[in-house]
Amino acid sequence: MSLKDDLEKLKEEGLKNIAESDEPSELNDIRVRLLGKKSPITDALRQMKDLPAEERPKVGSFANQIKEEIANAIAEQQAEFEKMMIEAKLKSETIDVTLPSHKTKKTGTMHVLHQIIADIEELFIGLGYQVINGSEVEEDKYNFEKMNIPKDHPARDMQDTFYIDDELLLRTHTSPQQARTMEEHDFSKGPLKMISPGKVYRRDTDDATHSHQFHQIEGLVVDKNITMSDLKGTLEILVRHVFGAERKIRFRPSYFPFTEPSVEVDITCFACGGTGCKICKGTGWIEVLGAGLVHPNVLKNSGVNPEVYSGFAFGIGPDRLAMLKYGVEDIRNFYLNDVRFIEQFKGEEA
Ligand code: DAH
Repeated sequence: MSLKDDLEKLKEEGLKNIAESDEPSELNDIRVRLLGKKSPITDALRQMKDLPAEERPKVGSFANQIKEEIANAIAEQQAEFEKMMIEAKLKSETIDVTLPSHKTKKTGTMHVLHQIIADIEELFIGLGYQVINGSEVEEDKYNFEKMNIPKDHPARDMQDTFYIDDELLLRTHTSPQQARTMEEHDFSKGPLKMISPGKVYRRDTDDATHSHQFHQIEGLVVDKNITMSDLKGTLEILVRHVFGAERKIRFRPSYFPFTEPSVEVDITCFACGGTGCKICKGTGWIEVLGAGLVHPNVLKNSGVNPEVYSGFAFGIGPDRLAMLKYGVEDIRNFYLNDVRFIEQFKGEEA
């Protein structure tokens, strides 16, 4: 048999072996056997020097052609193996994205009281007010004296609290922020308009409507020619925002040492619309906050001339607003951290 026939046979067998190979390592063995240093093709090419000169190119190109065909077949088979491997991998690693996750994360929610406070803050920011955060530890001077409640004043009894020493206490209301902001404010730059939300403390016995810690939002506007009608218009915007556009408000005369005149503010009952029900105790009205025109002594105590300036102030209890708005019967629920209670107010604002 001629060298050519040998190579032809080798090629046929080789291609068959390649096509029948089952795995990459087997294919590699075939490659070494057919194309390696000791392969018959390499051998044939080596033997060419013994051939007559005119045959050499023919046999040479034939051998190279076979070498190339085998190399291509191996490369194709190799690619086939790789494709199969990828497919097998994809199959075994399939992820079912529709499966539920192991643990569904619970998202929290803003506490209902903070939802109410944030909502009121947003309203007043829209009306051009600053939001001021005061300190919960306050001086007697600001909590009482500057608010027109001297040391021996009986009004102190209604707001007994936790003293740190004789002159330092946990504030009983947010009203001290009135004096603090008036002292800071530069009236030559325009009116003072602020609200100040935060926690306040009283030495109350806790029950369904009393908590030793609760929230207030103080409001204060000081400018020239501020009157009761400014106060009434502002509070109307507030209660309609919180309790609905149909609410009416009324002022009842009252007493606070830091306002003169002082009023309690009632709104028409949002449950019965004013005809009388359990929530409004049959009166058709619900008391929601205290307010008044800033007492001249308070202005004076804060360095503001009452002959030139006047102001209105109000104090809101967000806890009470939340109780009314959502029918919560016990104020202590707000502070118990019972998730079953808190969760009911999901998605209100947040
Ligand atoms: N500071 C009062 C309280 O804690 C609430 C209050 C009433 C604040 C009337 C005011 C006001 O600014 O004008 O009971």
